[in-house]
Amino acid sequence: MVNESVLIRAENLQQYFPLKKSSLFQREQLYVRANDGITLDIRRGETLGLVGESGCGKSTFGRVLLQLYRQTGGNTFYYGHNLEEIAPRYAVKILERHWNLQEIDPNREPDSSYLELASVAGGICVMPNPEPGMEALREMYRATAAHRTEELPKYRQTLEDIRARCAGNAAFERFEKFRETGIDLSKLEPEEMRRLRRELQMIFQDPYSSLNPRMTVGQIIGEGLLAHGICRRNSPELQEMVQQVMEDCGLAPYMLHRYPHQFSGGQRQRVGIARALALRPRFVVCDEAVSALDVSIQAQILNLLRECREREHLTYLFISHDLSVVKYLSDRIGVMYLGNLVELAPAEDLFSSTHHPYTAALLSAIPAIEKRKAPAMMLKGDLPSPVRPPSGCKFHPRCPHATGICKEVTPSFTEMEPGHFVACHHPL
Ligand SMILES: Nc1ncnc2c1ncn2[C@@H]1O[C@H](COP(=O)(O)OP(=O)(O)OP(=O)(O)O)[C@@H](O)[C@H]1O
Ligand code: SF4
Ligand SMILES: [Mg+2]
Repeated sequence: MVNESVLIRAENLQQYFPLKKSSLFQREQLYVRANDGITLDIRRGETLGLVGESGCGKSTFGRVLLQLYRQTGGNTFYYGHNLEEIAPRYAVKILERHWNLQEIDPNREPDSSYLELASVAGGICVMPNPEPGMEALREMYRATAAHRTEELPKYRQTLEDIRARCAGNAAFERFEKFRETGIDLSKLEPEEMRRLRRELQMIFQDPYSSLNPRMTVGQIIGEGLLAHGICRRNSPELQEMVQQVMEDCGLAPYMLHRYPHQFSGGQRQRVGIARALALRPRFVVCDEAVSALDVSIQAQILNLLRECREREHLTYLFISHDLSVVKYLSDRIGVMYLGNLVELAPAEDLFSSTHHPYTAALLSAIPAIEKRKAPAMMLKGDLPSPVRPPSGCKFHPRCPHATGICKEVTPSFTEMEPGHFVACHHPL
């Protein structure tokens, strides 16, 4: 079970893109390892900044979290609802797949089958005679999925009684800790994901190419409300909701019937934001949301994003290659290098006590930050290929502090100070 403050958790998230074989004789299938095992919690109400060089996998990470790609490996948990509320089909499948597991010695390390079963059933699965509990759990999920709400109190009561009876039993308590209350987005079926998509939105870099040029602003903003069945076409509620979100995003009512090409870049980005916020999301990925705008408009849009966050209690993943913009908006900042997270810290700490040589190099490259405390260091060479990344620490060919161990052993992601994680054998 995870801390209640977490909204999204990526666990060992991997996204590999297969490369086309270059000849008939090429045996090995090669992959671009865009995300190569990322573990990260995003807390409710925070803005988590994500920075790194072009091609390090930032956008891929944002897209995988929203399941715009089917991830290659790992899990993405969403805690906006609990598992029992949504009752996804995968939960029933897991219960059925492991229904007849042999009794486990509760003192031994559980194998992967038991961990999978315990992620849904918790401690119930290790009790003698687990069938009644498993049965009640399965039927509760089935009834929820089929909207037979009148049956739920009966199953809930059975489960509550069993859990109360088992409380205090060491094996039960141990396995109860493996119970996962979040929804694993990577296991949802497309229809189940579609229902949650309303809460998980994205704001893109280039508002011009992401807005349909043949639709008016009113239609663009209202499109999602219609698609998710929140309003009916031509209804007064639709009109009202669109106008309200336009006002919230600083768009005048007369703009309702205009087309995207009739707007400036900053206004188009406001339309992109209004489109995402109209659905009242909980989590928004902003992928280079202000990078295409000039500096004064950038400030306006950043302030708008801030206002929306306060008003709607939003959680942002704010992706940008511009560290000063990220610093302005973020509570915590993650630094990515070649598909991995190399440093994660509260925003202020990342600048005032930089530990990873790569972060230090990124900071050195910002001319605007004059009073930096990190030692100046220039990044040499290009980002290596994510197809065959360097061994050990992937940064070693470019790192001035690299030693023998760096070439061979991948550094673990370690908490050096409270909340400040670094993956480096010789942190600064
Ligand atoms: N759909 C795809 N198919 C194949 N390869 C992809 C795909 N999307 C991204 N990649 C590759 O994955 C790697 C990471 O790309 P990604 O777009 O996530 O980087 P980024 O950090 O967002 O870069 P930028 O700052 O330039 O936007 C790159 O090597 C890219 O070529
Ligand atoms: S592990 Fe070694 S190569 Fe990697 S960043 Fe640290 S010092 Fe540099
Ligand atoms: Mg990108």
